[in-house]
Amino acid sequence: VSLVFISHFVVKIIGEMCNECLYLLLLLIKNGLVTNEDRQFKADVLVQDGKVVDIFPEGSNYKLPSNDIPVVDATDKLVIPGGIDPHTHLQLPFMGTVAVDDFDIGTQASISGGTTFIIDFVIPAKGQSLLEAYHQWRKWADEKVNHDYSLHVAVTWWSEQVAKEMEILVKDYGVNSFKVFMAYKNSFMVTDEEMYHIFQKCKELGVLAQVHAENGDLVHEGQKKMLKMGITGPEGHEMARPEECEAEATLRAITIANRVNTPVYIVHVMSKSAAHVIVNARKEGKRVFGEPIAAGLGVDGSHMFNCDWRHAAAFVMGPPLRPDPTTKDVLMDLLASGDLHCVGTDNCTFCEGQKAMGKDDFTKIPNGVNGIEDRMAIVWDKGVNSGKLTACDFVRVTSSTAAKIFNVYPRKGRIEIGADADIVLWDPKATKTISAKTHHQAVDFNIFEGMKVTGLAQTTIVAGKVVWNNDKLSTVKGSGKFVPRPPFGMVFDGIDTRDKVRNELLRKVERAPYQPPKN
Ligand code: URP
Ligand code: ZN
Ligand code: ZN
Repeated sequence: VSLVFISHFVVKIIGEMCNECLYLLLLLIKNGLVTNEDRQFKADVLVQDGKVVDIFPEGSNYKLPSNDIPVVDATDKLVIPGGIDPHTHLQLPFMGTVAVDDFDIGTQASISGGTTFIIDFVIPAKGQSLLEAYHQWRKWADEKVNHDYSLHVAVTWWSEQVAKEMEILVKDYGVNSFKVFMAYKNSFMVTDEEMYHIFQKCKELGVLAQVHAENGDLVHEGQKKMLKMGITGPEGHEMARPEECEAEATLRAITIANRVNTPVYIVHVMSKSAAHVIVNARKEGKRVFGEPIAAGLGVDGSHMFNCDWRHAAAFVMGPPLRPDPTTKDVLMDLLASGDLHCVGTDNCTFCEGQKAMGKDDFTKIPNGVNGIEDRMAIVWDKGVNSGKLTACDFVRVTSSTAAKIFNVYPRKGRIEIGADADIVLWDPKATKTISAKTHHQAVDFNIFEGMKVTGLAQTTIVAGKVVWNNDKLSTVKGSGKFVPRPPFGMVFDGIDTRDKVRNELLRKVERAPYQPPKN
């Protein structure tokens, strides 16, 4: 029988600390099925001081420094990397109000659902300093987050100052992704020319360009048309901006990024049409990534036609959920095939009173839905329980790929020695019925209301501490840390070679100067 001794981390610490401190720092996760994106194996996982310090595969005969180390039993559970939600808007000031799930409640909700890392969006107003907005978001988040987080920054206008501030954010503040909006005319929307310049700057800095892809001019015209026809309710929202508005903008964003030769990430892919644009572009070798969201995988846009205004308005978000009921299955199939990449939520929640700002005009309904708490369960239930995804695929689309794309891998998104001890014990058999009455979010509606899901986070470990176990939260407000993300992650691999090869194809013809015809 082989004898595996625990790593030097533990041995070193024993000499220096009393037993009491030791117990606080150490945790053993026993008898679980460790599940990474590429393989599953039975093992015990030892955590110390917020990191995974050892993994003992089944059959290892290992010795621990003490018999008193706290043990979490993971029998019949999957031991997976904590979920990563790459798209949230906690306490976002938006459309004349502020999203109700703040960084405290929002990250309690994420933990209860098995998510331990989010990337939220700094959204400066047009003309506002990006740095000033970034510091504002850091202040909001740092005081409240219950787990680690990071920030994307939106570029809502373009100038020399914006270019300089992008550089500072990348070099000094750990931002490696910038989002542009092709929609929200007269507020966040940028032009194609601005996008071209923003993408060029992204490429120079080695950071990922992200796009909200909808044709903002067509959305604007569509909204006017609906209102003129007297369609003022939530059902007007999707009809004003049908799938082709999303598909056209998706193609345009990919084309502009390809002209610049920089990778591009399409946030909240909501339609089959837009998804197929991405699939085709990838077949043509373009460097594009697509993000479906929990809402788009779990429900459809038929709810906006519900006769109860409150119900219908709760489903209003942009780009809209599509009435086509086959959309969610197609998006899941594309996650399975690898044509779409990671699952976000776009969690941006407004209560009934806030949604009612648009009671007579759907264009004034604050856009956004929930998802941060239910994302993992929705993906497991609709993906794994349908046989579309394997357990490894589940990990790939809920954490590993996001960690890779946004360059925090393998610190996040993988169970391995040295990784952060953000770990979930996933119970594939546990069931619940989703409801606003029992969810942990501040919002008073849940778009998945009444849905029975099988597969839940039984235990969530954040930075080595159990903070969710058997339906009980013990989170610590403000304990999460901002995680800086360096530029030139793997999405940039080979981009310079592509430039070289492409530039070799550009050629100048040497010829005699033009001579006008004589006489
Ligand atoms: O409806 C949405 N998506 N609200 C949040 C802002 C955005 O466009 O992502
Ligand atoms: Zn968006
Ligand atoms: Zn969003």
